[in-house]
Order: sequence, then C-alpha cells, then structure tokens
Amino acid sequence: MIRLITKTVSTNKDLVVVPVNSKELAPKSKLDKASALSVVEQKSGIRFRKLLADEGFLADDNTSTYFRTVGKLSAKAILFIGWNSGQNTAEEYRKLGALVAKTARCHRVSSLAFSEGGLQLTEKKRCKALLEGVALSEYQFDSYQKKPKTKPVAIKTVTLLTRKKVASQVAKDAEIYAQAACLARDLVNMPATDCDPPYMVRIARKIAREDKLKIKVLDKPKLEKMKAGGILGVNRGSATPPALIKLTYKPRGKAKKVVSLVGKGVTFDTGGHSIKINKSMNDMKMDMGGAAAVLGAMSGIGKLKPNIEVRAYVPVVENMVSAKSYKLGDVLRMYSGKSVEVLNTDAEGRLILADALALAEKEGCDQIIDLATLTGACMAALGQDYAGLFTRDDSFGQKIIESGSEQGECIWQLPLVEKYREQIKSDVADIKNVGFGYGGAITAALFLSEFVEKTPWVHLDIAGPAFLPAAADYSPPGATGFGVRTLIGYIMSL
Ligand code: BES
Ligand code: ZN
Ligand code: ZN
Repeated sequence: MIRLITKTVSTNKDLVVVPVNSKELAPKSKLDKASALSVVEQKSGIRFRKLLADEGFLADDNTSTYFRTVGKLSAKAILFIGWNSGQNTAEEYRKLGALVAKTARCHRVSSLAFSEGGLQLTEKKRCKALLEGVALSEYQFDSYQKKPKTKPVAIKTVTLLTRKKVASQVAKDAEIYAQAACLARDLVNMPATDCDPPYMVRIARKIAREDKLKIKVLDKPKLEKMKAGGILGVNRGSATPPALIKLTYKPRGKAKKVVSLVGKGVTFDTGGHSIKINKSMNDMKMDMGGAAAVLGAMSGIGKLKPNIEVRAYVPVVENMVSAKSYKLGDVLRMYSGKSVEVLNTDAEGRLILADALALAEKEGCDQIIDLATLTGACMAALGQDYAGLFTRDDSFGQKIIESGSEQGECIWQLPLVEKYREQIKSDVADIKNVGFGYGGAITAALFLSEFVEKTPWVHLDIAGPAFLPAAADYSPPGATGFGVRTLIGYIMSL
C-alpha cells in the first residue's frame, strides 16, 4: 500500500520529481521565481538549467533526466521530467507515475516526492491515475523463476509538494484498481496446466471469501441438469471438469441497478479438432482474459462497495483435442434452447458465452457486459491496442468507451451488421457457430446477440489488448489486465 502525504516543503530523502516545461529551458528565457525548477535552483544553489542544457535535455514530453544532489538538497537525487501539460489527461498522469517509479526502482529508491510545477497533483482523478501508474508498473510475473530476474522494489511513500490536501481515499482507490488489474494479470500469465478450470473456481472462491461476495459454482452435474450444451460441448475433450462460476456483489441498501458481467474463460484453446497451427497456439493460455478481467473487477467492486448490484457469470472450460472432443458437424443444444451446428471447433468462446449470457438474461438484470478474447479478426481490424465494442445500444456503448478512455484502455465501436446474420444461418440447426469470409469479429458478435434478446448489452472483444508481446507503458510483456479498470470505473460511475 502506497502512503500518500501532502506537504509544502520536501523532507523527502530519496528522490524528488521536478516537472519542467520546455519553454523554461529556452535560451534567455526568464524563469518564473515560483516555478518548480527555480525553487530547486534556489534551494540547492545548483544552476540546474546549465546542467540540463549541457545534457541536451529539452524537456520534451515523456523525457526525463536524473541528477544526484550531492548533499545540496534533502533529497539524494532529483528527476527532471518534461511536462508541457498538453492534454493533461488522467492517462498522462498514469504514464508519468510509471516513468518515475521505473527510475526510482532502478536507483533502488522507495519514496518519491513530486513538486507541483505544471502538474495538477491535487485533482482527484489525476492523482489517482498517478498513483495507479506507480502501482501498475510495479507488477512482475516471477513466481516461476527460481531467482527473479529483476528484484522488485516497492514504492512505499509518495509525497505531493502542494498546499492542498488530497483525501487518503484517492490512494486507496488507486491501490484497489491496480491490485484488481494485477490479479487478472496473474491469472492470464499463469501456465494453463496450473490455471485450469478447477483452479479458476478456487480463485473465485478465494475472491468471494476475501471481498465478501456471494458465490455459486455450477459444476458439471448441474450444468448437465440445466442443459448448458455450449459449455459442456466445448469442454467434452478435456480431462478436467468445466464450471460456470457465479459471483454476486450486493450493496447494503437497495441497489440502484443490477449489472451482469460475463467473461470468456477458456483456460487453454488448442482449437479442438479445428486445431490451431504453428505458433498460433503459443499464447492460448491467455484465452481466459475475459474471465480474469471479470474476476479482477469483482474483487475491486467488493472493496469499493458501490450502490449497484453486480453479478459475474464466468464459464470456465478447456478446448482440447481428444477422442471425446466435440466434432465438426455436431449440433449442440444450448442452455437457451437454441441449437447450434459446430462448423469450427476453434470458434468455442461464443459457445460458452452463449450459455452464460442466456443465464444472465434469464436471471434478470438491467445491463449485461461481456468480455472475451474472441477473435483474431478483431485484432486484424484494430491492431493489438484496441478492444472492439459491439452493442445495439449506442449510448450504453459510449459510456463504456468513455470509461475506457478515463482508464487508458482504448475501445473502438464496430458495427453489428445485420446483413451478415445470414452468414450464421444453418441448414440443420437454428444457427451455426461460424460465418464465412471477412468480418469475423462481427459474425462472432452477431452470434452472441442471438442469446441476449432484450437486455441492454455490450460485447467487448479483447483478443488484442489482453496480452501484449512487448512491454507497454505500465505493464511488462504478457498479460495487461485489460478491462478490469474500465469495468470498475464504469460501475462506480453509475
Ligand atoms: N481464442 C481465439 C481468438 C484469439 C486469437 C484470441 C488470437 C487471441 C489471440 C478464438 O477462440 C478463435 O480461435 N477464434 C477464431 C474464430 C474463427 C474460427 C471463426 C479466430 O479468430 O480465428
Ligand atoms: Zn478458438
Ligand atoms: Zn478461444
């Protein structure tokens, strides 16, 4: 937990961060006496502007430079950062927090102080984002290494050098959001043999215990009884049993709304008999990214206690190849009663989601949001940084996009093209599980729409951003925890 302190004068011993505007470094420019740069020059007697010029530091955005203060300031070191306060969005503060924390860790420093300068440190959303950036960038997945490749250093205190106090709740919120995202990252990064459906059930029980949520696990016999043909069909080739996990958060008083979250939990996707070829199976331990996002969000919601009832429906299965696997041409009788002809066993996510969505709708709620690493086609359309959003309710969709943008998670709406619904018509069953030709993310979303008839619903295809091949601003390569913070932020905004 990061301790947040506000103070007017720094007594920080470790590292002080000083934002610099590039104009302040222009030759012959007169420095405002009150500016952060001028204040440290006065205090230390060091002409930092000269040093910065010698370094060639221009204070462009996202650049920084580090100096030791050799006993001239109470802090051991100073980090100048380029800050030209262009847009001043929360996301820029998140990235700033990560940049500063990374430098601090390199120098094995565990406390930081920020001079205010051009920063808006006391504004709640920005302050939360800054601390969240610090916490999120601390994450590493090293439990499978005998000796962690990099030794983690936790930032323990962050001091804001400002006159205005910031509520300590801001630091708590930042911590809760970051922790929830890191919980999802851990689940996604974990090898699939260890993170299988029974493990997902155990983790859900742990979350329920710790965050005081209600849990109900529909195990295989129950799924058979309720005829959840999608979940059972996909899992048929696996040696482990499937489950449908249901977590519920209920507020103390009367809930303003009931929101259901549904997450695709394919703990490993071989493709089944439509087997994935070459390297396309390598990262398929991440195919439960939607489930992880929903579980992570529930753990955050349990702690933040909004006035909204939130229900999570998480189907967990493995899509394996075996003598028992479901076959091409099979017809599955889904929980909703519709029949589905399977013409590609690799289009499995939509089959398990169909059962979970139908149950969420049957149990009655005001809104449904599902998250799924559903299609390669969505990645082809938007690249890896954007999730695709589908909905029949544009204003609902817009709210999710806005929540994403507040959290630095990029979401782009794609159309539910009714004309393409013809592609999933079947000759033998009610529908089939794949279309033909292009627009695979759209036909997948249309398939899901067959199982949500009347409830306002948003589908997020997170195949791209759930798992990245290279490090991003505040996550190492691999799982990002995408969706967790967007979901929590959205629920908290209701
Ligand atoms: N899990 C995959 C989608 C995926 C691909 C996620 C790459 C992350 C990275 C999904 O189950 C799948 O295989 N989808 C198929 C659908 C096709 C058979 C209609 C796809 O996208 O190729
Ligand atoms: Zn698949
Ligand atoms: Zn899949």
